[in-house]
Amino acid sequence: MKKISKAIIPVAGLGTRMLPATKNLPKELLPIFDRPMIEYALKEASEAGIEDIIFITGKNKEMLQYYLGKNYQARHTFTEDNRSIKPERPTKSELNPNNIVFIEQKEPLGLGHAVLCAKNIIGNESFCLILPDMLAKGKPGCLSQMLQAYNINKGNIIGLEKIPIEDTYKYGIVKISDKKNNVCKIDGMIEKPRPEKAPSNLMIMGRYILQPEIFDTLEHQNPGHNNEIQLTDALITLIETQKFTGVVFDGKTYDCGDKLGYLMANLQYALDSEANNSDIRKTLVKLIQTLES
Ligand code: UTP
Repeated sequence: MKKISKAIIPVAGLGTRMLPATKNLPKELLPIFDRPMIEYALKEASEAGIEDIIFITGKNKEMLQYYLGKNYQARHTFTEDNRSIKPERPTKSELNPNNIVFIEQKEPLGLGHAVLCAKNIIGNESFCLILPDMLAKGKPGCLSQMLQAYNINKGNIIGLEKIPIEDTYKYGIVKISDKKNNVCKIDGMIEKPRPEKAPSNLMIMGRYILQPEIFDTLEHQNPGHNNEIQLTDALITLIETQKFTGVVFDGKTYDCGDKLGYLMANLQYALDSEANNSDIRKTLVKLIQTLES
Protein backbone atom coordinates (compact mmCIF):
# COMPACT_ATOMS: atom_id res chain seq x y z
CA MET A 1 0.00 0.00 0.00
CA LYS A 2 1.38 3.40 -1.00
CA LYS A 3 2.19 5.71 1.91
CA ILE A 4 -0.01 8.81 2.15
CA SER A 5 2.27 11.77 1.57
CA LYS A 6 -0.03 14.66 0.60
CA ALA A 7 -2.34 16.86 2.66
CA ILE A 8 -4.75 19.54 1.52
CA ILE A 9 -5.17 22.51 3.85
CA PRO A 10 -8.02 24.77 2.71
CA VAL A 11 -7.76 28.36 3.90
CA ALA A 12 -9.94 30.18 1.38
CA GLY A 13 -12.92 30.71 3.71
CA LEU A 14 -13.95 34.23 4.68
CA GLY A 15 -13.53 33.83 8.43
CA THR A 16 -16.65 35.90 9.10
CA ARG A 17 -17.13 34.51 12.63
CA MET A 18 -13.82 36.06 13.65
CA LEU A 19 -14.47 39.54 12.22
CA PRO A 20 -13.14 42.20 12.62
CA ALA A 21 -9.86 40.38 13.45
CA THR A 22 -9.97 38.65 10.05
CA LYS A 23 -10.83 41.76 7.99
CA ASN A 24 -7.28 41.90 6.62
CA LEU A 25 -5.41 39.27 8.60
CA PRO A 26 -5.80 35.60 7.55
CA LYS A 27 -7.49 33.64 10.33
CA GLU A 28 -4.65 31.08 10.14
CA LEU A 29 -2.12 33.68 11.25
CA LEU A 30 -4.02 34.62 14.41
CA PRO A 31 -1.88 33.51 17.35
CA ILE A 32 -2.80 30.62 19.59
CA PHE A 33 -0.78 31.50 22.67
CA ASP A 34 2.66 32.15 21.15
CA ARG A 35 2.44 31.02 17.53
CA PRO A 36 0.16 31.35 14.52
CA MET A 37 -2.69 28.88 14.28
CA ILE A 38 -1.31 27.38 11.05
CA GLU A 39 1.81 26.14 12.87
CA TYR A 40 -0.20 23.55 14.77
CA ALA A 41 -1.66 22.05 11.58
CA LEU A 42 1.76 21.92 9.91
CA LYS A 43 3.32 20.25 12.95
CA GLU A 44 0.53 17.67 13.08
CA ALA A 45 1.02 16.94 9.36
CA SER A 46 4.80 16.63 9.49
CA GLU A 47 4.63 14.41 12.60
CA ALA A 48 2.29 12.12 10.65
CA GLY A 49 4.85 11.82 7.85
CA ILE A 50 3.12 14.13 5.37
CA GLU A 51 5.61 15.51 2.86
CA ASP A 52 3.55 17.69 0.52
CA ILE A 53 1.11 20.38 1.56
CA ILE A 54 -1.39 21.87 -0.85
CA PHE A 55 -2.89 25.09 0.44
CA ILE A 56 -6.14 26.24 -1.13
CA THR A 57 -5.98 29.99 -0.72
CA GLY A 58 -8.37 32.82 -1.41
CA LYS A 59 -8.59 36.59 -1.14
CA ASN A 60 -6.60 38.38 1.60
CA LYS A 61 -4.26 35.40 2.11
CA GLU A 62 -1.07 36.99 0.73
CA MET A 63 0.33 37.39 4.24
CA LEU A 64 -0.09 33.67 4.91
CA GLN A 65 1.70 32.87 1.67
CA TYR A 66 4.48 35.24 2.63
CA TYR A 67 4.75 33.70 6.09
CA LEU A 68 4.99 30.18 4.69
CA GLY A 69 7.24 31.15 1.82
CA LYS A 70 10.13 33.53 2.23
CA ASN A 71 10.20 33.40 6.02
CA TYR A 72 9.82 29.66 6.25
CA GLN A 73 13.37 28.80 7.26
CA ALA A 74 13.62 31.60 9.79
CA ARG A 75 10.24 30.51 11.17
CA HIS A 76 11.52 27.02 11.79
CA THR A 77 14.61 28.09 13.61
CA PHE A 78 12.62 29.59 16.47
CA THR A 79 13.77 26.77 18.71
CA GLU A 80 13.27 26.03 22.40
CA ASP A 81 13.89 29.53 23.70
CA ASN A 82 11.84 31.06 20.84
CA ARG A 83 14.38 33.86 20.62
CA SER A 84 17.23 33.03 18.32
CA ILE A 85 16.85 32.95 14.55
CA LYS A 86 19.62 30.94 12.98
CA PRO A 87 19.86 30.35 9.23
CA GLU A 88 19.46 26.61 9.62
CA ARG A 89 17.98 24.24 7.10
CA PRO A 90 14.75 22.55 8.21
CA THR A 91 15.44 19.28 9.99
CA LYS A 92 14.20 16.00 8.57
CA SER A 93 10.97 15.98 10.53
CA GLU A 94 9.94 19.41 9.25
CA LEU A 95 8.24 20.19 5.99
CA ASN A 96 10.44 21.27 3.13
CA PRO A 97 9.33 24.72 1.92
CA ASN A 98 9.66 23.49 -1.67
CA ASN A 99 6.93 20.96 -0.94
CA ILE A 100 4.33 23.59 -0.04
CA VAL A 101 2.19 24.73 -2.96
CA PHE A 102 -0.66 27.23 -3.18
CA ILE A 103 -3.72 26.92 -5.38
CA GLU A 104 -6.19 29.77 -5.57
CA GLN A 105 -9.88 29.15 -5.09
CA LYS A 106 -11.17 32.11 -7.09
CA GLU A 107 -14.39 32.38 -5.07
CA PRO A 108 -15.33 30.83 -1.72
CA LEU A 109 -17.84 28.37 -3.16
CA GLY A 110 -17.62 26.00 -0.21
CA LEU A 111 -15.25 23.49 1.41
CA GLY A 112 -16.13 20.80 -1.15
CA HIS A 113 -15.25 23.17 -3.98
CA ALA A 114 -11.97 24.09 -2.23
CA VAL A 115 -11.00 20.39 -2.04
CA LEU A 116 -11.90 19.94 -5.72
CA CYS A 117 -9.37 22.68 -6.60
CA ALA A 118 -6.59 20.18 -5.67
CA LYS A 119 -7.85 17.43 -8.01
CA ASN A 120 -5.06 17.65 -10.59
CA ILE A 121 -2.25 17.93 -8.10
CA ILE A 122 -3.45 14.97 -6.00
CA GLY A 123 -4.23 12.75 -8.99
CA ASN A 124 -5.13 9.17 -8.15
CA GLU A 125 -3.74 9.03 -4.60
CA SER A 126 -5.30 8.84 -1.15
CA PHE A 127 -4.72 12.07 0.75
CA CYS A 128 -5.28 13.85 4.06
CA LEU A 129 -7.45 16.89 4.55
CA ILE A 130 -6.81 19.22 7.48
CA LEU A 131 -9.10 22.10 8.48
CA PRO A 132 -6.57 24.28 10.30
CA ASP A 133 -9.10 26.29 12.33
CA MET A 134 -10.14 23.02 14.00
CA LEU A 135 -7.12 22.79 16.27
CA ALA A 136 -6.64 19.18 17.36
CA LYS A 137 -4.58 18.95 20.53
CA GLY A 138 -3.37 15.43 21.25
CA LYS A 139 -0.37 13.16 21.55
CA PRO A 140 0.20 11.51 19.14
CA GLY A 141 -1.44 14.03 16.82
CA CYS A 142 -4.86 13.36 15.35
CA LEU A 143 -3.59 12.56 11.84
CA SER A 144 -1.08 10.07 13.25
CA GLN A 145 -3.90 8.36 15.16
CA MET A 146 -6.01 8.24 11.99
CA LEU A 147 -3.17 6.91 9.82
CA GLN A 148 -2.77 4.00 12.24
CA ALA A 149 -6.41 3.09 11.63
CA TYR A 150 -5.98 3.65 7.88
CA ASN A 151 -3.13 1.15 7.70
CA ILE A 152 -5.51 -1.52 9.04
CA ASN A 153 -8.87 -0.49 7.55
CA LYS A 154 -7.96 1.31 4.28
CA GLY A 155 -10.77 3.28 2.59
CA ASN A 156 -11.84 6.65 3.97
CA ILE A 157 -11.14 7.64 7.57
CA ILE A 158 -12.94 10.44 9.39
CA GLY A 159 -11.74 12.01 12.66
CA LEU A 160 -14.53 12.13 15.26
CA GLU A 161 -15.00 13.66 18.69
CA LYS A 162 -17.67 13.38 21.37
CA ILE A 163 -19.56 16.64 21.95
CA PRO A 164 -22.47 17.61 24.21
CA ILE A 165 -25.65 16.55 22.43
CA GLU A 166 -27.00 20.13 22.54
CA ASP A 167 -24.15 21.23 20.21
CA THR A 168 -24.91 18.87 17.32
CA TYR A 169 -26.53 21.68 15.30
CA LYS A 170 -23.07 23.24 14.81
CA TYR A 171 -21.25 20.30 13.17
CA GLY A 172 -21.41 17.32 10.82
CA ILE A 173 -22.58 14.30 12.87
CA VAL A 174 -22.12 10.59 12.08
CA LYS A 175 -24.18 7.44 12.47
CA ILE A 176 -21.92 4.59 13.58
CA SER A 177 -21.80 0.86 14.33
CA ASP A 178 -19.23 -1.82 15.33
CA LYS A 179 -17.30 0.44 17.71
CA LYS A 180 -14.16 -1.22 19.07
CA ASN A 181 -12.01 0.97 21.29
CA ASN A 182 -11.78 4.25 19.36
CA VAL A 183 -12.48 2.84 15.88
CA CYS A 184 -15.94 2.37 14.36
CA LYS A 185 -17.77 1.87 11.10
CA ILE A 186 -19.50 4.96 9.74
CA ASP A 187 -22.96 4.18 8.32
CA GLY A 188 -24.14 7.70 7.62
CA MET A 189 -23.58 11.42 8.12
CA ILE A 190 -25.80 14.43 8.56
CA GLU A 191 -24.84 18.09 8.47
CA LYS A 192 -25.72 20.19 11.56
CA PRO A 193 -28.73 18.19 12.88
CA ARG A 194 -30.86 19.44 15.76
CA PRO A 195 -30.11 17.32 18.88
CA GLU A 196 -33.37 15.36 18.57
CA LYS A 197 -32.48 14.41 14.96
CA ALA A 198 -28.79 13.62 15.66
CA PRO A 199 -27.83 9.93 15.14
CA SER A 200 -25.00 10.27 17.73
CA ASN A 201 -23.03 12.90 19.62
CA LEU A 202 -19.90 12.31 17.49
CA MET A 203 -18.88 15.30 15.42
CA ILE A 204 -16.70 15.34 12.32
CA MET A 205 -13.79 17.28 13.80
CA GLY A 206 -11.90 18.50 10.73
CA ARG A 207 -9.50 15.68 9.85
CA TYR A 208 -10.06 13.31 6.94
CA ILE A 209 -8.20 10.65 4.99
CA LEU A 210 -9.94 10.41 1.64
CA GLN A 211 -9.84 8.31 -1.49
CA PRO A 212 -9.41 10.11 -4.83
CA GLU A 213 -12.93 9.11 -5.96
CA ILE A 214 -14.14 12.05 -3.84
CA PHE A 215 -13.10 14.36 -6.69
CA ASP A 216 -15.53 12.80 -9.21
CA THR A 217 -18.26 12.96 -6.60
CA LEU A 218 -17.51 16.62 -5.88
CA GLU A 219 -17.55 17.45 -9.59
CA HIS A 220 -21.13 16.23 -9.82
CA GLN A 221 -22.20 17.62 -6.43
CA ASN A 222 -25.01 20.19 -6.49
CA PRO A 223 -24.69 23.24 -4.21
CA GLY A 224 -26.17 22.58 -0.78
CA HIS A 225 -26.37 24.67 2.42
CA ASN A 226 -25.58 28.39 1.76
CA ASN A 227 -25.55 27.55 -1.96
CA GLU A 228 -22.02 26.15 -1.48
CA ILE A 229 -20.51 22.83 -2.64
CA GLN A 230 -20.46 21.04 0.70
CA LEU A 231 -17.88 18.33 1.42
CA THR A 232 -20.26 16.46 3.73
CA ASP A 233 -22.86 16.18 0.93
CA ALA A 234 -20.23 14.54 -1.31
CA LEU A 235 -19.17 12.19 1.52
CA ILE A 236 -22.82 11.19 1.97
CA THR A 237 -22.90 10.23 -1.73
CA LEU A 238 -19.56 8.40 -1.57
CA ILE A 239 -20.53 6.35 1.49
CA GLU A 240 -22.98 4.43 -0.71
CA THR A 241 -20.06 2.85 -2.60
CA GLN A 242 -17.01 3.18 -0.34
CA LYS A 243 -15.91 2.11 3.11
CA PHE A 244 -15.83 4.81 5.82
CA THR A 245 -14.18 4.27 9.20
CA GLY A 246 -14.38 6.66 12.14
CA VAL A 247 -11.56 7.29 14.61
CA VAL A 248 -12.62 8.90 17.87
CA PHE A 249 -9.75 11.29 18.49
CA ASP A 250 -7.89 10.75 21.75
CA GLY A 251 -7.41 14.45 22.44
CA LYS A 252 -9.39 17.67 22.29
CA THR A 253 -10.42 19.81 19.32
CA TYR A 254 -10.85 23.58 19.57
CA ASP A 255 -12.97 25.33 16.95
CA CYS A 256 -10.71 28.35 16.52
CA GLY A 257 -12.93 29.80 13.80
CA ASP A 258 -15.29 30.69 16.63
CA LYS A 259 -14.52 33.29 19.31
CA LEU A 260 -15.16 31.04 22.32
CA GLY A 261 -13.22 28.10 20.83
CA TYR A 262 -10.37 30.45 19.95
CA LEU A 263 -10.23 31.78 23.51
CA MET A 264 -10.34 28.26 25.00
CA ALA A 265 -7.45 27.12 22.77
CA ASN A 266 -5.38 30.11 23.82
CA LEU A 267 -6.01 29.42 27.50
CA GLN A 268 -5.27 25.72 27.20
CA TYR A 269 -2.01 26.18 25.27
CA ALA A 270 -0.97 28.93 27.69
CA LEU A 271 -1.64 26.67 30.68
CA ASP A 272 0.29 23.83 29.04
CA SER A 273 3.28 25.96 28.10
CA GLU A 274 6.45 25.49 30.03
CA ALA A 275 7.47 29.14 30.11
CA ASN A 276 5.38 31.45 32.36
CA ASN A 277 3.05 28.58 33.21
CA SER A 278 2.74 29.32 36.93
CA ASP A 279 2.28 33.08 36.36
CA ILE A 280 -0.49 32.37 33.86
CA ARG A 281 -2.17 29.94 36.23
CA LYS A 282 -2.00 32.38 39.17
CA THR A 283 -3.38 35.22 37.02
CA LEU A 284 -6.26 33.08 35.79
CA VAL A 285 -7.13 31.91 39.30
CA LYS A 286 -7.17 35.55 40.48
CA LEU A 287 -9.37 36.53 37.55
CA ILE A 288 -11.86 33.77 38.36
CA GLN A 289 -11.89 34.77 42.03
CA THR A 290 -12.66 38.36 40.98
CA LEU A 291 -15.49 37.14 38.75
CA GLU A 292 -16.95 35.02 41.54
CA SER A 293 -16.75 37.67 44.24
P1 UTP B 1 -15.39 27.38 7.79
O1 UTP B 1 -16.73 26.78 7.84
O2 UTP B 1 -14.62 27.49 9.06
O3 UTP B 1 -15.56 28.78 7.05
O4 UTP B 1 -14.57 26.57 6.72
P2 UTP B 1 -14.74 30.11 7.11
O5 UTP B 1 -15.14 30.87 5.92
O6 UTP B 1 -13.26 29.90 7.29
O7 UTP B 1 -15.25 30.82 8.42
P3 UTP B 1 -16.64 31.54 8.71
O8 UTP B 1 -17.66 30.43 8.79
O9 UTP B 1 -16.91 32.53 7.60
O10 UTP B 1 -16.39 32.21 10.01
C1 UTP B 1 -13.88 25.37 7.05
C2 UTP B 1 -12.56 25.36 6.29
O11 UTP B 1 -12.82 25.37 4.90
C3 UTP B 1 -12.15 26.46 4.27
C4 UTP B 1 -11.94 27.48 5.38
O12 UTP B 1 -10.83 28.32 5.08
C5 UTP B 1 -11.69 26.58 6.60
O13 UTP B 1 -10.35 26.13 6.67
N1 UTP B 1 -12.99 26.94 3.15
C6 UTP B 1 -14.31 27.17 3.35
C7 UTP B 1 -12.41 27.16 1.93
O14 UTP B 1 -11.19 26.97 1.72
N2 UTP B 1 -13.20 27.61 0.90
C8 UTP B 1 -14.52 27.83 1.05
O15 UTP B 1 -15.17 28.23 0.07
C9 UTP B 1 -15.08 27.61 2.32
